[in-house]
Amino acid sequence: MKKLIKSQTLYKTLFGGEYRKLHLFLIAVLSITLTGIQILQDSKWVAPLEADSYVNPHIGNQKAVEKGRKLYMKLCWTCHGKSGKGDGPAAATLKVTPSDYTEDLVQTQSDGALYWKITHGRGEMVSYKSLLSEDQRWTLVNYIREFNKSASSE
Ligand code: HEC
Repeated sequence: MKKLIKSQTLYKTLFGGEYRKLHLFLIAVLSITLTGIQILQDSKWVAPLEADSYVNPHIGNQKAVEKGRKLYMKLCWTCHGKSGKGDGPAAATLKVTPSDYTEDLVQTQSDGALYWKITHGRGEMVSYKSLLSEDQRWTLVNYIREFNKSASSE
């Protein structure tokens, strides 16, 4: 009973009367922390340097592009969009907008970096490591390169 009274007094001291400011201060600290976490989540996604040295087994292979296209139209387009601009029907429900494949931001990355991201995933972009074979993941990299060509031929 004594304990209960004690904690009630503590509550009053913290959240009532003159300590109201402390209450506000704590809320401010909390919201700054949450904003910080949000910024971290939105920060640019960079693959580790070692990924740049991975060798794409299908460089210039049109058959692989076609295989990649089929997979993409099954698994990826709902978020990344049929035109690769990150505007698929599911994109509106995502917290992070997938980047536009026709932009330099994506196309200047190495094949290995894109392969690494498809393999490992981040947040809403799931890891395709166990869902797809290595070979399938590389064909998707080849297909993502196609969006670059269509952008420059416009
Ligand atoms: C549920 C929606 C969703 C699906 C399905 C999805 N992605 Fe993503 N993808 C994302 C989001 C969101 C990001 C951005 C993640 C981030 O930056 O934190 C992303 C990022 C990427 C990136 C990195 C682009 C960059 O900016 O560097 C690649 C590559 C990628 N996805 C490939 C694929 C492939 C290939 C598939 C299909 C096998 C696929 N994604 C399926 C949502 C999705």
